Amino acid sequence: MSEPIRLARPDVGGAELAAVADVLASGQLTMGPQVAAFEAALARAVGTQDAVAVSSGTAAIHLALLALRIGPSDEVIVPAYTFPATANAVELCGARAVLVDVDPETFLVRPELVADAVTPRTRAVLAVHLFGRPVAWEELQTVVPQEVALVEDAAGALGARYRGTPCGALGLLACLSFHPRKIVTTGEGGAVTTDEAELAAAVRRLRHHGIAAGTTVDISSPGFNYRLPDVLCALGIPQLERLEGLLQARERVAGWYTERLEHFVGVPSADEGDRHGWQAYVVALDRRDEALAGLRAEGIEAQIGTYAVNQLTAYRDRGAFPGADAAFARALALPFATSTTEDEVDRVTAALARYA
Ligand SMILES: Cc1ncc(COP(=O)(O)O)c(C=O)c1O
Repeated sequence: MSEPIRLARPDVGGAELAAVADVLASGQLTMGPQVAAFEAALARAVGTQDAVAVSSGTAAIHLALLALRIGPSDEVIVPAYTFPATANAVELCGARAVLVDVDPETFLVRPELVADAVTPRTRAVLAVHLFGRPVAWEELQTVVPQEVALVEDAAGALGARYRGTPCGALGLLACLSFHPRKIVTTGEGGAVTTDEAELAAAVRRLRHHGIAAGTTVDISSPGFNYRLPDVLCALGIPQLERLEGLLQARERVAGWYTERLEHFVGVPSADEGDRHGWQAYVVALDRRDEALAGLRAEGIEAQIGTYAVNQLTAYRDRGAFPGADAAFARALALPFATSTTEDEVDRVTAALARYA
């Protein structure tokens, strides 16, 4: 059998090894200078005043919601097709995740259905740029009342742009992930980006037990330990420095796939004028389950797209979501990395063609 093709291959090498080695040699593994350096590089990349590094994308969403003081009796709108962390974070604040259906072609939430789901209890909308495709932001802004916070789940959208504006700089707050399938990875990690100094300060307090910057002896409200250590921040800095190159490499691989696949499966794209962040390359086809099994049998590590949250036991009481069901049944993530070769793309597409 030919060489297996992994689903993802993080783009880390000599620069990351040297950066991590420096931190180990410094003896300061956490709460040191690399955290601020990583946050500054991230704020520059996204174009926000502030970036607060945390331990995961899930922690970022949790703290963004808590910074907005979202809690019991509040509702937060969440797409029905997303990684479950988006809804879980809402529920673990004590609020209710109100699911809204998605367009199975784009995999993104349908703004007109968001409008229908708003109630007097709605405090926020978690807009997910799923797989790196920017949400139609202006349409969403138009249908959401002013007092409802628009928060980005930009877990997979670092580098993506909505009409020229980076994802991560569109919402009141945005949440990023640095899991190994993301364009920039720290192994595990995340961040909240925002232009609002008070919200950034709240997230900083909440990630560090509730302790405010410059104080050590008092806590006005409790927090967590959701810090991202220096050793992981250092790993992310060289990748942020070459973010444009990483994105261009992913655009090239996406182009190879699209060229070969667009006539026989649904292929991902972004709206005119937007830039896709290419967190993943996810196609849509009817014989998804057969294709997934067939590719895996050939050593090609394909994967489902993501979850129909409405089908999970914890969320089965939230109604019917045909768009999410269709997306869940049809979506297939193909092996995708900056280092994916054209030969690998040929092998994957030849295997996939059998199920078109
Ligand atoms: C849309 C979305 N939101 C949230 C998360 C959670 O991020 P993390 O795995 O860093 O906790 C992910 C992770 O894949 C995601 O894809």
